[in-house]
Amino acid sequence: MRLDYISIFPEYFDVLHISLLGRAVEHGLVDVRSHDLRTWTHDRHRTVDDTPCGGGAGMVMKPDPWGEAFDELLGTEPDADVHIVIPTPSGHPFRQQIAADLSDARRIVFCCGRYEGIDHRVIEYASRRWTVHELSLGDYVLNGGEVAALAITEAVVRLIPGVIGNPESLTEESYSAGQEGLLEYPVYTRPISWRGHDVPEVLMSGHHGRIAAWRHDRSVAITAERRPDLLGGPDGGQEPTQPVRS
Ligand code: ADE
Repeated sequence: MRLDYISIFPEYFDVLHISLLGRAVEHGLVDVRSHDLRTWTHDRHRTVDDTPCGGGAGMVMKPDPWGEAFDELLGTEPDADVHIVIPTPSGHPFRQQIAADLSDARRIVFCCGRYEGIDHRVIEYASRRWTVHELSLGDYVLNGGEVAALAITEAVVRLIPGVIGNPESLTEESYSAGQEGLLEYPVYTRPISWRGHDVPEVLMSGHHGRIAAWRHDRSVAITAERRPDLLGGPDGGQEPTQPVRS
């Protein structure tokens, strides 16, 4: 899989060369390239933004550098197999299923906006040629798309076969099919007793049936408390309660 990042802060993506992602890069499973959007400016100040048409606060990213970045990285030919990810707080909620779908992609180009966002014609232009995903990490606002692009990358790349040593660890975690849509149960390791806190006895019983039942009960309880929207039932479909701002 080839991953391109277009940003005015391409250094953000240096971290892709460490840890699990770094290993995926070293092993040739992914080819990552970050690009400075200002490469495709031509004025003395290397301007990437301008005031919003219609007025209002903040600045909007000009379409021209994005268009030239696309020309150089992708050409102009349509190819639905090329995925363009635009992180934005007004995007579709990013979910595990989207990560799984993207993990099959041959090519993903992340377009990281700053300021009030990217001129909408860039999204229209890209949508006519490639598969565009405007994605939000959650109901909060970051300073730009870079951190969101990194989070999306990690969620996608770890699903590529061969990236995670033990693929079984993918099936039991929160949001995977193996967990029936429940959040993960709490986990423990040795020592059995630590600072007055003990590992629950059932986990040391060696009784697989009782352990599985305990884990399932804990998963259901945690999901009911934190994410009732995941449980279906009468409360299903409701959003989790948001912390109240004081
Ligand atoms: N850019 C700024 N805020 C964002 C968010 N919550 N999700 C994705 N991209 C963003």
